[in-house]
Amino acid sequence: MRVTICFGGSILAPDGPDIDCIREIAQALRALKSRGHEVLVIVGGGKPSRRYIEAARKFKASNTRCDLIGINVTRMNAHLLIAALGNLAEQEPVFTFEKAIRAMLRDKIPVMGGTTPGHTTDAVAAMLASSSKSELLVFFTDVDGVYTSDPKLDRKAKKFETMTSHELVNLVAGQRVEPGMNIIIDPIGVRLIERARIRTLVLGRHEISRLADILKGAKHSGTTITPG
Ligand code: UTP
Repeated sequence: MRVTICFGGSILAPDGPDIDCIREIAQALRALKSRGHEVLVIVGGGKPSRRYIEAARKFKASNTRCDLIGINVTRMNAHLLIAALGNLAEQEPVFTFEKAIRAMLRDKIPVMGGTTPGHTTDAVAAMLASSSKSELLVFFTDVDGVYTSDPKLDRKAKKFETMTSHELVNLVAGQRVEPGMNIIIDPIGVRLIERARIRTLVLGRHEISRLADILKGAKHSGTTITPG
């Protein structure tokens, strides 16, 4: 299966880089490759990107500069995952979808961070899944699925087992896109998922080691987003 996987910065670098998590991700990706899957990867910036963006704001940096700072941090995280993957990975963070697809066709795992200002790596993941014609898009986040509201703030929040991409669009509608924002999937990414009509999973960190089985159809405790 051709699959695009986005590892949110919130799990990869919840404070600084999480070495154990990065190791686990590399192991899971190796397992996918050994089973013949075609894999494309995106990583987020996490807390370090937010810290840098906050610092830039103190100097009244423009949103575009804040975004560019965030993009650079995602690329540092991409370097870490590339280091953990060794020869299996394309040896530098990939900046364009074309180069990512070319690397995948050479049997390497491309690791992308951000691309251009104005969105997050969620949107990059949706664009890469669409341009590579991936069969499945997977997001790993620090929240283990899509909830009716933020479960960290609302004890009554309920997780969706399944939902349509249209329902997800309605759920995130109206959320502002700002540098360093923190929502489950950014609204631009959600629109792109709806447009590309790609089956999408939102999973928690604890499912990383089960990824190969989940691709084979094993149950998971996250949210499945179906086209529609
Ligand atoms: P992230 O994708 O990490 O955003 O990009 P996030 O919402 O903080 O996600 P998690 O929590 O890490 O998963 C960090 C910042 O980099 C800029 C944005 O400002 C974003 O908030 N960015 C990232 C871009 O401007 N363009 C991109 O393509 C990617």
